[in-house]
Amino acid sequence: MTLFALPRTLRVGGGTVAETPAVLAGLELKRPLIVTDPFFAQNGLAERVATLLADAGIPSRTYSETIPDPTVASIDAATAFLTAGDHDCVIGLGGGSPIDSAKAIAVLAVHGGKMRDYKAPHVQDEAGLPIIAIPTTAGTGSEATRFTIITDDERDEKMLCIGLAFLPIAALVDYELTLSMPARLTADTGVDAITHAIEAYVSRRANPFADALALAAMRTLWDNIRLAYTDPTNRNAREKMMLGATQAGIAFSNSSVALVHGMSRPIGAFFHLAHGLSNAMLLPAVTAFSVDAGLERYAECARNLRITADGTSDAGAAKVLVDALFRLNADLAVPGPRSLGIAPARWQEVTPTMAEQAIASGSPANNPRVPSAAEIEALYARVWSEAGP
Ligand SMILES: [Fe+2]
Repeated sequence: MTLFALPRTLRVGGGTVAETPAVLAGLELKRPLIVTDPFFAQNGLAERVATLLADAGIPSRTYSETIPDPTVASIDAATAFLTAGDHDCVIGLGGGSPIDSAKAIAVLAVHGGKMRDYKAPHVQDEAGLPIIAIPTTAGTGSEATRFTIITDDERDEKMLCIGLAFLPIAALVDYELTLSMPARLTADTGVDAITHAIEAYVSRRANPFADALALAAMRTLWDNIRLAYTDPTNRNAREKMMLGATQAGIAFSNSSVALVHGMSRPIGAFFHLAHGLSNAMLLPAVTAFSVDAGLERYAECARNLRITADGTSDAGAAKVLVDALFRLNADLAVPGPRSLGIAPARWQEVTPTMAEQAIASGSPANNPRVPSAAEIEALYARVWSEAGP
C-alpha cells in the first residue's frame, strides 16, 4: 500500500499569487496570518498579498521574522505571535524557510508542545491549522510536501518532521515570484529540486505514481537549470523550473528522499549552508557511491535525461549520469566545503556526529545502497577532498 497525498488545489502559472483571496474564499478561510521573512517584508511582496486580501474583505496580519533554517526558538516566537491573534489559517510566503515555519506553527498552535515532540519517527497526521503555500523559489517543493525541517538549536540538529498536518491544503505556484532570484540561489535551489526527483525515483519507497512525476520533473529541471542560471530573466526557463520543482516535491513527498538529503541536513545544521547548496555538493559523490546497488533505476534517470547514446548498458548509463552530475556542479560553480572556508579540523571533528544524525533521520535507509556509519564518514571525507572549484 502506498498513501498518496497532495494539496487539495494547486494553482500553477504566472500571476496566480493574485488568486490568493479566491483560494481562501473557496476554503471558507477568513483570518489568515501571513508568514514570511524580512526580505519579502521589505521588497513589498508581503504587503501586496495583504492588500489583495484586504481588497477582498479578508483582514490579515503578517509575521515577517522567520529566519533561514528555522530553529525551535524561532518557531516558538512565531507561534506566540500566531496565538496572540485570532487566525483560522496560515499563509507561508517565501522560500523553504518561511513555508516550513508556517507549517510548524500551524501544528503547534493547535496541538501544543515543542517542535522536538514532532521529530521523526513521530508522524503528525492529525490536522493543525490549514496551510496555504506561496513559494518564491523553484526548489524545496515544500508547497506540496508533508514535511517540515526545523533545527534543534541546542543540539545542532535539523529535525525532519513528517505528517499530513504539514501538507498545505492549497498552493499558489507563481513563477513570476522567482524572476528576481540571484544566480547562486537559482542554481542551489534548482539542484535541490533535481535531487528530489532523482532520490524519489531511486528510493526504496519509489512507486509508480511518484515515478511518473519524478521523471517528468527531472527532465524539465535538467533541460532548464543552466538557462535559468545564466539568464535569470528567461521567463520560459523560470516557468519550467517552478513546474519541475513542484512536481519533484510531490514525487518525494509520496516516495522519499534518500542519502543525499540524509547527509545534507547535518552539514546545514553545523555549517549553516543553504539546503540546496549542501545537497548540490553531495549529489555527484553520493550518486557515484550508490549506483551499483540500483543500476537499472539510475540508468533510467540518464536515459530520461537523454544524455546516453542508444544501446548503452545500464552500467554505462549510470556512469554517464554520475559524470553529468559532476559536470553540472562545475557549470553551476557549486562551491565545496573547502572553498567556502570551512576549517578542515572542524569538518573532521563533527563528521562522526553528522553521520550519526544522517542515519537517525531515516533517509539513508531509503537509499538503493544503505550505507554504514563508516561509509557515510568516508563520503563526507570524499566530498571535502573533491568538491568545489
Ligand atoms: Fe531538499
